[in-house]
Amino acid sequence: MGKVLSNPESLVRPAVQQLIPYETKHLPECIKLDANENPFPWPLGMKESLFAEKLAFNRYPDGMGGDLKSAIGTYTKISPNGVLIGNGSDELIQLILLTFGGLGKSLIIHPPTFGMYKIYARLTDTTVVEVPLLDSLALDTEKMLEAALSPEAHVVIICNPNNPTGSLFPREDILRLVRESGKIVVVDEAYAEFSEETLIPELENNPNLVILRTFSKSFGMAGLRLGYLLGQPETIALINKVRPPFNVNSFSQKAGILALEYLAEYQAQIQQIKEETHKLQVGLAQIPDVVVYPTWANFILFKPVDPDGWAAELLKRGFLVRNMGVLPVLGKCLRISAGLPDENEGFLRAIREISEETIPCDKRI
Ligand SMILES: Cc1ncc(COP(=O)(O)O)c(C=O)c1O
Repeated sequence: MGKVLSNPESLVRPAVQQLIPYETKHLPECIKLDANENPFPWPLGMKESLFAEKLAFNRYPDGMGGDLKSAIGTYTKISPNGVLIGNGSDELIQLILLTFGGLGKSLIIHPPTFGMYKIYARLTDTTVVEVPLLDSLALDTEKMLEAALSPEAHVVIICNPNNPTGSLFPREDILRLVRESGKIVVVDEAYAEFSEETLIPELENNPNLVILRTFSKSFGMAGLRLGYLLGQPETIALINKVRPPFNVNSFSQKAGILALEYLAEYQAQIQQIKEETHKLQVGLAQIPDVVVYPTWANFILFKPVDPDGWAAELLKRGFLVRNMGVLPVLGKCLRISAGLPDENEGFLRAIREISEETIPCDKRI
């Protein structure tokens, strides 16, 4: 028989054909202010303990993540049965949609928000219904509720604080959606350690509420990929059905356990990151013609006159910021996260310089 000419592209699922892959920049030589990470090194004792561990890498990890779930249970004050661990919270978004989404079902989101929700919806054939934030960057609770009440709507994701705007939504608005929609309401609390606001106490009375958390931000473990979901044990058991058996490796599980033992050191880092974020916010607000949005997280969204030009100028000076492109409601914006104190000072110096170069002399103060 002759060789059959294969065209792999013709065999791709339609949902994947339409997909534009999520692009990330890897420029290790730059000062990274683009990914909302914790810029500080791990607490020394934690690092030493982790590297001294005798982990059996020739064996599969604990597929149930028992010790890590207990540690997370203690940290969040909920039963370990109400915890599900994931290979980053990204994976957990996918698992939620694999469980509750799918063909003929819809996910409700509030753009501008975290880009991965839409990508995982597409991958799971879930329709996306967008209810943009109001001009004030508040949730349009009425419209979200109306959308959530449609029979196809199965999942609502609220990002709180919201990436990229930095907004924190009132708990009463979120709880109204939880109580009145009856659908799965996911509250993505990736930045909760910075905002110090959480809906965890509400899990007890709401089986349709799930809370998504990560070790990537405040705990400085973006490179290890560790996230978790919190919910009532019965709801978590449903999502656990679609979880790959060994989704979190043994090194990351141990790192998560140790990080929670070094909570006091991390809390000091979080405090410092909050102070640095505030300094950046004050510094940016002094630059003429830059709109700076309030934030409850470790990042700041801002709008210079020429976002693309400024991102390029910053890169020339060694600072990698996130160019958000054209955001719904807000248009073109840039986002930065707090770096180390001297990096932040350097960033403010660079941005003052760029502003002076681009603002006509008669508009300078
Ligand atoms: C709101 C939000 N959720 C989830 C994530 C994903 O985090 P992880 O590193 O745990 O996959 C991010 C990362 O930027 C985020 O901003």
